[in-house]
Amino acid sequence: MNERLWFFRGGARGDFRVTALRAIRGESLPEVERLAVEREGPEAGATFTLRGVVSNERYLARSERAELAAVQAAIGRPEARHGALIPIRKSAEWWALPQDERRAIFEERSHHVAVGFRALPAVARRLHHCRDLGADEPFDFLTWFDFSPEDGQRFDDLLGALRETLEWQYVEREVELRVER
Ligand code: HEM
Repeated sequence: MNERLWFFRGGARGDFRVTALRAIRGESLPEVERLAVEREGPEAGATFTLRGVVSNERYLARSERAELAAVQAAIGRPEARHGALIPIRKSAEWWALPQDERRAIFEERSHHVAVGFRALPAVARRLHHCRDLGADEPFDFLTWFDFSPEDGQRFDDLLGALRETLEWQYVEREVELRVER
């Protein structure tokens, strides 16, 4: 078993009830009742399966990594009963950029970490990469979040702020699933 590989299966089973599913940009995903988040498990009965690996960081400076590590919470706190799975694909134009230009768009011009930092530690996150798993992966990233019901507005504000950034102009497909445990 690959410890870094996670499956997100939409269908009739799973720990999470899907309370909303909508396309933000591009094609949506099929409506499902539940979401299973697991390292392995039966494919049977799943309406869709998305997969991604937790990988090394690409963009963080040492100081940013340290600031995040000091504040951020891990996914799965008992009180964090609300969550969101947001699969994202970025454009060919984004992937054609050199690393330093992507970093500049990500942080110097879009302030992704600085904006995200304001939602910590209320919102916990886990980023999964899909791009290198195969040529047919429908998304580049599976972003997964949890928070307590009282912090839902904080999460909505964060989404609103990120979607206004230059970085998001390179997002060509984004689907938002909101879940409750
Ligand atoms: C909760 C606050 C958040 C924080 C602290 C945060 C922080 C980060 C950090 C540090 C990275 C870079 C990892 C690396 O160096 O490779 C990252 C990447 C990413 N985040 Fe966030 N993030 C937050 C919220 C969000 C939200 C709400 C979304 C989606 C709507 C999102 C989507 C992404 C995506 C797609 C990437 C990958 C970008 C790329 O590699 O091109 N993040 N985030």
